[in-house]
Amino acid sequence: MVEIKSVSKSYDDVKAVDNVSLIIPDATFMGLLGPNGAGKTTLIRMLLGLIDSDEGRMVIDGEDVSRDNHSLKKKIGVVPQHINLDKELSVKENLIFSGLLYKMERQLINKRTSELLEAMNLIRVKDRVCKHLSGGMKRKLMIAKALIHDPNIIFLDEPSVGIDLKARREIWDILKRMNSAGKTILMTTHYIEEAEYLCDKVSLMNDGKIFYCDTPMNLIEMIGRFTVEYFENSLETKFKYFKTLELAKDFASKINDKYTIRDTTLEDVFYSFANRMVK
Ligand SMILES: Nc1ncnc2c1ncn2[C@@H]1O[C@H](COP(=O)(O)OP(=O)(O)OP(=O)(O)O)[C@@H](O)[C@H]1O
Ligand SMILES: [Mg+2]
Repeated sequence: MVEIKSVSKSYDDVKAVDNVSLIIPDATFMGLLGPNGAGKTTLIRMLLGLIDSDEGRMVIDGEDVSRDNHSLKKKIGVVPQHINLDKELSVKENLIFSGLLYKMERQLINKRTSELLEAMNLIRVKDRVCKHLSGGMKRKLMIAKALIHDPNIIFLDEPSVGIDLKARREIWDILKRMNSAGKTILMTTHYIEEAEYLCDKVSLMNDGKIFYCDTPMNLIEMIGRFTVEYFENSLETKFKYFKTLELAKDFASKINDKYTIRDTTLEDVFYSFANRMVK
């Protein structure tokens, strides 16, 4: 279990993380959504013990997070936001090197490397140097690298950024399999459909604060399952949310301009709350 208790972190005059509390139960797939600068990466870096919080506590599997808690580091795998591969080493060598950093035995490293190359569909390119991999292959290798020591808790900071739909789908399957195997996952993403597809729960973060955490379905039902999207006075697209289809149809029948009635998505929830916060 991951417990974040009233944690804050400031950089000069920026409150990057502002009194955040969050619990991620074992085997939960938690999504962390928020615009650029919301504080997502700062929160993950604190959970990894890479930076200290100003206030609050972080506890993982009953142990306090700290810079030098090495036993905890062995339980955690991380896929950072930016590419962390050695570009001059081959795919296989990157995995072996990572295993050596965790002081794993050579035999176990070889076993895990073979398993991960297979699981990530990277066997074909195992001897290719990383600088010659495609973006999707690099992202898959970063996930493999994070899993070399078979951690139970995995933090992923935008794991599928900048890759095509096919590679993203492949990554989604890998993440789904990890979660089915009982791993606890915290993932940040800007792809709201990714969170909706993968996550048991989603936390919405803005300006350093988590202002909602619930299942995607509950978040959607909270604002209304049906959305009427309409063009007001041919100037601006507006959205209105309704609990029932009848109420949505009733509202739409009075609109003089173009409209569509559709299912509400997590994206609507996110922007609806973000707008309310700005107002
Ligand atoms: N080392 C640092 N020094 C100064 N300010 C920082 C530092 N790291 C982060 N910040 C600031 O803290 C805030 C939160 O940044 P953070 O990287 O956590 O956001 P994020 O939610 O991960 O954004 P993105 O979606 O762009 O990755 C931003 O205003 C950022 O400029
Ligand atoms: Mg970030």
